[in-house]
Amino acid sequence: MAAQLIDGKALAAKVRAGLVDEAKAIAAKRGFAPGIAVVRVGEDPASKVYVTSKKKTAEELGFGSWEHHLDATVTQVDLLALVAKLNADPKVDGILVQLPLPKHIDSNAVLLAIAPEKDVDGFHPVNAGNLFQGRPGLVACTPAGVMRMLEEIRFSCSGKNAVVVGRSNIVGRPMAALLINASATVTVCHSKSDVAAEVRRAELVVAAVGVRHLVKGEWVKPGAVVIDVGMNRGADGKLSGDVEFEAARERASFITPVPGGVGPMTIAMLMSNTVTAARSRG
Ligand code: GUN
Repeated sequence: MAAQLIDGKALAAKVRAGLVDEAKAIAAKRGFAPGIAVVRVGEDPASKVYVTSKKKTAEELGFGSWEHHLDATVTQVDLLALVAKLNADPKVDGILVQLPLPKHIDSNAVLLAIAPEKDVDGFHPVNAGNLFQGRPGLVACTPAGVMRMLEEIRFSCSGKNAVVVGRSNIVGRPMAALLINASATVTVCHSKSDVAAEVRRAELVVAAVGVRHLVKGEWVKPGAVVIDVGMNRGADGKLSGDVEFEAARERASFITPVPGGVGPMTIAMLMSNTVTAARSRG
C-alpha cells in the first residue's frame, strides 16, 4: 500500500494558528507584539523569495517585521554594525541573517555576532551547543519542523534506527542532535558514506543533501518514515526532493511530498521561535 503523505502545508497552518494567543498575550503584557528583523544581502533570487515569505507570514500573524536589504558590496564591518543595532533594539525579539552571504563576508563571524537570545535561526554556536548537550535553547527551524511532523504522525523515535543524510549546520547536524535527544539510534551519512546500506536499515530517513533523487526508493525499508528536506530546482523549473518520491512511496508508511512537505514547516517554526524568544526576553 502506498505511504500516507504528511501534509506540511496543513500542519504549518496549525502551528501558526497555535501561536496567535500567546503572541497576543505577550503584546498585551508589554505593549508590543513579538517582532523579527530579517537581513538580506545582495540579490540571491532564492533568498529574496524566502525573505518575502518570512516577512509576509510575520505580518499575517500581527508580529513586528522589518526587512533590512543591503547591497551585495556591503562591508562586513557595516553588516556587523547593523547586527549590533538589532541586538540592542528592544522591539526586535528575533534576528535572522539570510544565507548565503556574499563571498567577501565571513558568515560565521556574522552568525556569532547575533545575540544568542535573539538567534531565531538557532545557528549561533551557543544555541547549537545547547541543542547538542540536550539543554533548552532556540532550535534550527527546519529540523524543529521535522520533529513537529514526527509528533503529528505519532512516530516515536525512541530506540528506532534513524538515518540523516547530510551533515550541514542548517539541517543535518541539528537534526541528528534532536533525534539523539529523542532517544533514536542515529547515523549521519555524508559523501564518504555507504548511503544505500545505511538507508536500508533505517526506520526513519531524513534526507537533507540537496542532490535530486540521491535516495533511491528501493533502498527504503518497508514501513519506514521518509522525510525529504531537499528542494532541488530542475532545468524545467520544477522542484524535486532528495528522495525518489514515487518509488519510495510504494515502500514507506509515511512520506513528505516536495513541495508541500517540510518547506512550509520551516517558516512556521521560525515564527514559533520568535514567540519563544519574545517570551524568554520577558
Ligand atoms: N538559507 C537557507 N536556509 C536558511 C535558513 O533556514 N535560515 C537562514 N538564515 N538562511 C537560510
